[in-house]
Amino acid sequence: MLHLVCSVCGETHPIDAPIWRCPCGGLLDVAHTPKLDPAEVAKRPATLWRYREAIALARNAMAITLGEGFTPLLPIELEGVRFLAKLEQIAPTGSFKDRGASVLITQATALGIDLVVEDSSGNAGSAIAAYGARAGIASHIYVPSSTSQAKLAQIAAYGATLHRIPGTRQDTADAALEAAEAAYYASHVWNPFFLQGTKTWAYEVCEQLAWHAPDVVVLPIGNGTLLLGAALGFAELQEMGLIGNAPRLIGVQAASCAPLVEAYRQGMDEPAPVTPAPTQAKGIAIAAPRRGRQILEAVHRSRGTLLVVSEDEIAATQHALGRQGLYVEATAAVAPAGLLRLRQSGVLRRDATLVTALTGHGLKAATG
Ligand SMILES: Cc1ncc(COP(=O)(O)O)c(C=O)c1O
Ligand SMILES: [Zn+2]
Repeated sequence: MLHLVCSVCGETHPIDAPIWRCPCGGLLDVAHTPKLDPAEVAKRPATLWRYREAIALARNAMAITLGEGFTPLLPIELEGVRFLAKLEQIAPTGSFKDRGASVLITQATALGIDLVVEDSSGNAGSAIAAYGARAGIASHIYVPSSTSQAKLAQIAAYGATLHRIPGTRQDTADAALEAAEAAYYASHVWNPFFLQGTKTWAYEVCEQLAWHAPDVVVLPIGNGTLLLGAALGFAELQEMGLIGNAPRLIGVQAASCAPLVEAYRQGMDEPAPVTPAPTQAKGIAIAAPRRGRQILEAVHRSRGTLLVVSEDEIAATQHALGRQGLYVEATAAVAPAGLLRLRQSGVLRRDATLVTALTGHGLKAATG
């Protein structure tokens, strides 16, 4: 089984259809039953492409790679809490988005696409621009005008055309969506191949734990592309019999913008309407996540939970990580801050294996 399926009308489309959403307007997912031989995987280079058979792509696709993936899983202790952090900030462009971008741009190349459009708070835009450059695909990147200078410079360095959009993150998404009417939308939210990349995060965590799943995984949620990819990856590994139980998935949002935590509290199955307040965690300031229903389902299915952290907790955790030699941007401190809060609340077993991700490098948003 290998095709695209619409999450709204259920229509299926060939895996090599040059589309990023269903003609009905619905979000597409990839339907795939992967197979993987861990003994073969072990012989391969330390990039996410070691899981090639498990990554759904058009036939004959050739990997567009900058050596992404297989990031270290580092033991850390903060405030007396021990956990494992996957160092996504050392990815080629400095964030976990490289996973999705490498796979998505590989697919775009196989489809013969020569121009892509993407919108982001900065990191997904950098990643698409970098892999686009590697593939010889032109990219138009839409970002909010408040995006950090470092991220703008990074996107420009890859030769992308930058569009700075005044207003909210939603205004930026709307501008990109309009441009995408006439282009291939390399959206980390809409395009299902992005999740084929982020799912390798789960494959790596399990391989690094000798093909065991951790008990609990704590991840930040804006549009939920890492959490959804992780959920997909753990589900596939379980299906293939490579792990026993899948972990509980804990999603963390900034209290200033928490449509999914609000929905979870109220028992809703779609993101709750919220009026966001400014947050230092700009990467997750998403008021209306498109895949919100899927995120809520994934968290429920895993017997996980969703929680918020305050601006003070984010800043304190970012500071504490720095004092451990780990320089991350504020958005990347959200999940570790949530992990500390959860551990201190006593709801986790003391011996549970906890894994989180440091999702973005501090140099991307450095202020003096
Ligand atoms: C550093 C960082 N962490 C986490 C996220 C959240 O990812 P998502 O919006 O896919 O949930 C982002 C998104 O831009 C990010 O840049
Ligand atoms: Zn449809």
